[in-house]
Amino acid sequence: MSQKVALVTGGTGGLGTSICRSLADSGFRVVAGYNSGGNHDKAKAWQEEQRQAGYDILVSYGDVTNAESCAACVKAVEEMTGGTVDVLINNAGITRDGQFKKMSWEQWDEVMSANLDSMFHMTRTVINSMIDKGWGRVINISSVNAQKGQFGQCNYSAAKAGIHGFTKALAQEVARKGVTVNTVSPGYIKTPMVAKISEEIQAQICSTIPVGRFGTPEEIGRICNFLAEEGSSYITGADMSINGGLHMH
Ligand code: CAA
Repeated sequence: MSQKVALVTGGTGGLGTSICRSLADSGFRVVAGYNSGGNHDKAKAWQEEQRQAGYDILVSYGDVTNAESCAACVKAVEEMTGGTVDVLINNAGITRDGQFKKMSWEQWDEVMSANLDSMFHMTRTVINSMIDKGWGRVINISSVNAQKGQFGQCNYSAAKAGIHGFTKALAQEVARKGVTVNTVSPGYIKTPMVAKISEEIQAQICSTIPVGRFGTPEEIGRICNFLAEEGSSYITGADMSINGGLHMH
């Protein structure tokens, strides 16, 4: 049987790297979608780092806020792998934190585009080939802050909550076509995104996490891999929380 192809958007980032590695460990032909502000050398350097760590991961450029760029990214994946995308992990995302009373339209719009419009562009590009094949996995990375809200994140919480609505609707549309659609909602994970929060606030947040620590990217990679497995075909429209007990609902 030929290798299944997995495309991870934001694949070269904090969570993305672990998701890519976890899928590669399970035998998927993994492609890391990257933007890196168009810095292709950075992506090549990342790819080399993975190779040195024993991971053969392809890279494909794409701006998830732009439909044409997503189409080009997927076309490149198909050319490189000789197959269509079987597993799509919509992982690319950004923060532009700030209190709403001071938030600019740009802070709102950039977060909506990168975190929510991206779901439309990328998934729309690959969904028909999954349906035609009768097999597919769409895994959307949301956040605990979609479930509970977060001071300073009206934009991010709104976009990330929108993701789960999208998951539930699409899951119903493609359930009979062998395609599952799920959300993963990480809590605070040790990534560059969380490192941007001031140390004082990080300590405050950490003190509210029942498990007593931030999560690791590997813990998120593991759950994405689980959802991508053949045996997970009865899990669809779900929102998998992985937050150290920070929010239970
Ligand atoms: N609840 C209530 N009040 C709060 C508060 C909270 N959680 N946090 C701060 N405040 C209050 C302070 O007490 C202070 O009040 P006073 O002015 O009355 O003293 C005020 O807000 C501070 O306001 P400022 O505008 O001066 O604060 P700031 O601009 O320096 O910082 C902020 C605002 C950037 C939003 C900062 O609070 C912050 O970084 N918060 C954390 C946001 C966060 O958790 N982001 C997650 C990023 S990681 C991620 O998103 C990944 C994921 O999915 C989990």
